[in-house]
Amino acid sequence: MTVKPVRVGVVGFGYWGPNLVRNLDKLGDAELVAACDMSEVNLAKLSALYPGVATTTDLDELLSGHALDAVVVATSAPSHFAIAKKVIEAGMHCFVEKPLTLRSADAEELVRLADERGVVLMVGHLMEYHSAINWIRDYIASGELGDVLYLYAQRLNLGKVRTEENAFWSLAPHDVSIVLYLIGETPDRVSANGVAVLHGGVHDTVFANLHFPSGKMANIHVSWLDPHKVRRFTIVGTRKMLVFDDMEATEKIWIYDKGVEPAEALGYGEDLRLRFGDITVPFIPMLEPLALEVQHFLDCCADGSTPRSDGRDGLRVVRVLEAVDQSMAAGGAPVQTIVEV
Ligand SMILES: NC(=O)c1ccc[n+]([C@@H]2O[C@H](COP(=O)([O-])OP(=O)(O)OC[C@H]3O[C@@H](n4cnc5c(N)ncnc54)[C@H](O)[C@@H]3O)[C@@H](O)[C@H]2O)c1
Repeated sequence: MTVKPVRVGVVGFGYWGPNLVRNLDKLGDAELVAACDMSEVNLAKLSALYPGVATTTDLDELLSGHALDAVVVATSAPSHFAIAKKVIEAGMHCFVEKPLTLRSADAEELVRLADERGVVLMVGHLMEYHSAINWIRDYIASGELGDVLYLYAQRLNLGKVRTEENAFWSLAPHDVSIVLYLIGETPDRVSANGVAVLHGGVHDTVFANLHFPSGKMANIHVSWLDPHKVRRFTIVGTRKMLVFDDMEATEKIWIYDKGVEPAEALGYGEDLRLRFGDITVPFIPMLEPLALEVQHFLDCCADGSTPRSDGRDGLRVVRVLEAVDQSMAAGGAPVQTIVEV
C-alpha cells in the first residue's frame, strides 16, 4: 500500500524556516505545497530554491487554497498564537516553532483547540530529537547514573542580542525542554535573577532555578553577554556524573565515575570518601535532529499519534518561561508553577 504524502504548507521563511523547508523537501513523506511569508523578498528566495511551491503573503489564502493536511509555523514568536489558532481552526495539523506562545493562557487555548479538532499540535523542541539527549535519557533510565540529584545547563555566547524578548525566552526554551524531558517532571517552583544592561529591562543574562516535586533541582544559565561560547549540560547522579558538551563535534558526552561515598571502614574519623574512577566517552551515532523532528511530525500527521513534543509539552515550557519572568520582576522571589496540564 502506498501512503499518500502529507500535504504541507509553511508560514515563515526567514532565518530558521529554510531549514525546516529543506527537510520537508527532502523527506518523501511530505509534499511541500505552498508557503506564506509577509515578506515578498523572502518568498522570492523560496521560489528561487523551490519553483514548484505556491507562495502568498496572505495566510487565509494559504489555508483555503491548497487542500493542506498540515502547516509548519516558523514565524517570530509573537505571531505564533494567532497563526497556529487559524491553522487548527481550519482543521489542519500544526507544527509551531519554539516557544509555542508567549503566554501560557494562549498555549492552553491551542492545546484545547487541537484536542477539540482532533489535529496534531507539535512544538519545535528540537533537542528532544537530538541523538545525544536521547542517549542520556536512556542512560538515566538504565540506572547507571544512579538517582539524578541535580543538573545545570549553560548556554552562553557574545550575541545575538535581542531587544524584544529577554535572553531566557530567546535561549532557554531548549534547555527547559531538555530538563523536563530528562527528569520526566514539571517544576512546581521557579526562582530567577538576571542582569539587564544593554536594553532597558530586557535581561541579557539569566540564572534560573527550577525545583521539582521529587526534590531534584536544575539551574539554567543563559546569556548573550559572555566571553565564551558554551552549550554545556552537567548532570550529577548518586553513582556517576555526566557532562554533555554540544560544542564538541563528536565527543559530546563524558561520563565520570566519580562520587562521594560513606567511608565507615576507614576509621579516621572521616565519614565521607571521595571516589575517582574512569572517565568514558561513549560513541553516539549522530543523526540530524531537525530531520528526525520533521519526520516525527509527518509520522504523527499520518497516523494521528501524539508527538513527543506535543502542545502540552510546549505549554509546560511556556509556564516555566513565564514564571522566570515573574520571579525576576519580584527580585528573585520563588514563584509557584502549575504542574498539571
Ligand atoms: N529550533 C531552533 O533551533 C530554532 C533556531 C532559530 C529560530 N527558531 C525559531 O524559529 C522561529 C523563527 O525564527 P527566525 O529566527 O527564523 O525569525 P526571522 O525573523 O528570521 O523569520 C521570521 C519570518 O517570518 C515572517 N513572518 C513574521 N510574522 C509573519 C506573519 N504574521 N505572517 C507571515 N509571515 C510572517 C517574517 O517575514 C520572516 O520571514 C522562532 O519561533 C524562533 O524561536 C528555532
